[in-house]
Amino acid sequence: MQEMTILGTGSFVPEHILTNDDMTQYVDTSDEWIRTRTGIVNRHFQDNGSVLEMSVAASRQAIERSGIAKDQIGAVIVATFTSEYATPSIASLLQRELDLPANIISFDLNAACSGFIYALMAGAALLTEGRYALIVGAEAVSSVLDMSDRNTCVLFGDGAGACVIGKGHKALYQVAGCQGDDEVLVARRNDYLHMEGRQVFKFAVKTLERTLNDLVEQAGLSVEELDYVISHQANYRIIKHVYEKMKIPAEKFYMNLQEFGNTSAASIPLALAEMDQKGLLQNGMKIAMIGFGSGLTYGGVLLEWGK
Ligand code: COA
Repeated sequence: MQEMTILGTGSFVPEHILTNDDMTQYVDTSDEWIRTRTGIVNRHFQDNGSVLEMSVAASRQAIERSGIAKDQIGAVIVATFTSEYATPSIASLLQRELDLPANIISFDLNAACSGFIYALMAGAALLTEGRYALIVGAEAVSSVLDMSDRNTCVLFGDGAGACVIGKGHKALYQVAGCQGDDEVLVARRNDYLHMEGRQVFKFAVKTLERTLNDLVEQAGLSVEELDYVISHQANYRIIKHVYEKMKIPAEKFYMNLQEFGNTSAASIPLALAEMDQKGLLQNGMKIAMIGFGSGLTYGGVLLEWGK
């Protein structure tokens, strides 16, 4: 357990929207197939593939909403597997673009769709009194999609979400793990993303349920006491399978994958920022956030909302 509080959230999604019907220009698919198998209706593509641009926009918003001064930021972590740079890191470039202090630790982290959760945990461990951390999840998944592969191209989208965290008196419970695998969900350098959909599905439902149970057990809570679960937004059928099996009301599982598809490391912070902006998050609410994906990685955090 660590102590941490989220002070502000931000998000950015590209303007270019592709509907399910638009996807029929690329592959043999249909709006009906995509909606019923995944729940996805639209996705947004960052046509220039810039993870940096999206990260800058989401981070600016998060810093502004946090109410802290930029020179109080001591760490920047960007979770991504689709950066346009092999080096430098997007986090290092955020230092320049956002005019952050030079004495910060900055790095990118690749844990695929669990990336934002891993970054939150890493950021929480780096916090010191009076110094905050900027945590970003940002992806241009479209840059690694084979637009002639209907098994993958209809599922993913681009975007960025960010938050500013600080030391607080709120407990952060965390669970993480991985099982080394480079077959079921893999994108080798200079190649497209390949996925064994059914195997990923099985991993996802098992992992989401187990991680949620582990988190509430650690926090000494029951699942009924959770106010919201923000799952990685991969597929509504994965989420539905879990809330039905665990007998948790559907409305506690926030979903925005209809509009954005699977945005990998950006999906959880995008949902968090959207909920924050809608005023859904009230002081004292207990929120679990759970990611799972390539690696195969998984990670979950449980925190109480508020400063
Ligand atoms: N449009 C139309 N047909 C499609 C299609 C598409 N976009 N994609 C696949 N199909 C076809 C397949 O080719 C297959 O055809 P066949 O029976 O003639 O071989 C058929 O649909 C069924 O494919 P299958 O893979 O069994 O479908 P499914 O019910 O398992 O659904 C996924 C496929 C990808 C939606 C589902 O497996 C899934 O959601 N997996 C998890 C993916 C995920 O979340 N990944 C990211 C995790 S971070």
